[in-house]
Amino acid sequence: MTKNIVTIGGSSSKNSINKILAEYAGELLKNAKLTKLDLNDFEMPLFSVDVEDEKGYSKGVLSLNEIFENTDGFIISLAEHNGAYSTAFKNAFDWLSRIEGKVWRNKPMLLLSTSPGIRGGKSVLEIALGKFPYMGANIVGSMSFPLFNENFKEGEIVNIELKEKLDVLVDKFEKAL
Ligand SMILES: Cc1cc2nc3c(=O)[nH]c(=O)nc-3n(C[C@H](O)[C@H](O)[C@H](O)COP(=O)(O)O)c2cc1C
Repeated sequence: MTKNIVTIGGSSSKNSINKILAEYAGELLKNAKLTKLDLNDFEMPLFSVDVEDEKGYSKGVLSLNEIFENTDGFIISLAEHNGAYSTAFKNAFDWLSRIEGKVWRNKPMLLLSTSPGIRGGKSVLEIALGKFPYMGANIVGSMSFPLFNENFKEGEIVNIELKEKLDVLVDKFEKAL
């Protein structure tokens, strides 16, 4: 049966390399309907308990929460800003966690990160690997993808080792769905 998969780049950059990588990984699935999310499409204020008290949840938060509720799995690639989540991702994550603590609903997740640097966002990936399981993530595979601009060209992974590694993870993810 065709599965519904959400892809997310954990970034608000218009040309997010993480969005590109998450969508690329999604396209490798054999039988899936992809919902390619752009965090910019979900308006929400900067999280504060006071805004939450006074205004409740924005339409953007509610619709993102509903998408999470209805998907069969997640492919996420996290941008790394100063060794941690981007502000846009953390903000959405904080809002969502107030509606449902198990943000990831125990659904299969392929967790990626990339950056132009040699570590490929390893620090933010480690943070997420440590935290997401407590928030309902069923992480079936993870990978940091280094030197994005060297290893990904014209819509394709040009580093054979990295391509093979991602293929294995995508296959494992698809089997877990
Ligand atoms: C404020 C800021 C902090 C950054 N910190 C890191 C970092 O800690 N590690 C890293 O590998 N890249 C860092 N970068 C570079 C990002 O990896 C790069 O901008 C990347 O394109 C972000 O992913 P995105 O294109 O999906 O937004 C930083 C960029 C910005 C703007």
